[in-house]
Amino acid sequence: MDILKTYENSRVLVTGGDGFIGSHHVEKLLSLGANVSVIDTMLCGNKIGHLVEHKNLTVHKLDVTDKDSIAPLFKDKGIVFHLAAVVGVEETQHEPLEVLNVEIIGTLNVIALAAQNKAKRFVFASSSEVYGDTVKPMVEPGPFNPKSTYALTKMVGEHYCRAYFQKHGLEYTLLRYFNTYGPRQDDRFVISRFMDRASNKKEIFIFGDGNQTRDFTYVEDSVNMSLLAAVSNKGVNQAFNLGTGKAVSVNNLAKIILKTLDAADKVKTSYVDYDNIRSREIEIFNRLANIDKVVKLLQYKPETTLEAGIQKYVKWYRNRK
Ligand SMILES: NC(=O)c1ccc[n+]([C@@H]2O[C@H](COP(=O)([O-])OP(=O)(O)OC[C@H]3O[C@@H](n4cnc5c(N)ncnc54)[C@H](O)[C@@H]3O)[C@@H](O)[C@H]2O)c1
Repeated sequence: MDILKTYENSRVLVTGGDGFIGSHHVEKLLSLGANVSVIDTMLCGNKIGHLVEHKNLTVHKLDVTDKDSIAPLFKDKGIVFHLAAVVGVEETQHEPLEVLNVEIIGTLNVIALAAQNKAKRFVFASSSEVYGDTVKPMVEPGPFNPKSTYALTKMVGEHYCRAYFQKHGLEYTLLRYFNTYGPRQDDRFVISRFMDRASNKKEIFIFGDGNQTRDFTYVEDSVNMSLLAAVSNKGVNQAFNLGTGKAVSVNNLAKIILKTLDAADKVKTSYVDYDNIRSREIEIFNRLANIDKVVKLLQYKPETTLEAGIQKYVKWYRNRK
């Protein structure tokens, strides 16, 4: 991964840098010698609190929907990673206007400022949600079938990237994150939720019959793929699936987590009908990334198995302050 040396002394902007995936970007970028500016509302838990003293980091508590306030921060930036978003497919169904505001207006502001300031690359955090329930494994050219407001906004963001390249020459990279997990993730998401509950000897609830599958990707792998795609010439104006190429059912996921926590006989597992919890209409039952493009163009293969990733996550969880 020699190409990552390109980040040394570079000036990088990360929106959503205080979030789960954003904080891992910031950590890795600083370790590579980059100067990092973060834009974040900081309302989601101060996930970069441990880094604020770093001499190469500046954090701006700002909102991407307020274009005037964020505008000065785009001067002389090389790569702009745009991760700020209202996340959680189910939650965002209840707040469609907020999602539209942040994901559409916010994205438009960030991309326009990146273009105006001639950023070297605009890296957009898209989502596997854009595929919906379509072919498996999912391949970058599509087909697409966004089922939720959130998924739709990610498709719109991708289209803005193409439009801004055509009109202003801003080079972009689209990163379609599959279910990413690891330290600092909110317990709204399945792995964190199971781990948190099982660690506290509380019953865990599986939606439906638990046979739905996901391509769970350890955050370190996701960030490596993101940073490689952002500096590689092969990543210019390309979309990449950030997954592992392996699908695991939620039933098996629960077993792996309980085994890792040594809690299989201490924690009860129950099944909950979808209709009581979340809308079946927006659920994507099977999700699997085809990662041939990442392997071929970026020469990277995610290294962390689900078992190993959960072990690392559990270790972090137990040692966290
Ligand atoms: N975690 C996943 O599995 C996953 C999957 C697909 C796509 N993504 C995408 O990756 C990106 C990061 O996701 P995450 O899981 O780290 O979520 P997160 O919620 O932890 O991070 C999002 C960050 O954006 C910030 N933010 C929200 N609204 C903002 C605004 N108006 N202005 C400035 N900052 C704002 C939040 O404060 C938060 O720190 C998002 O764009 C998300 O859609 C994540």
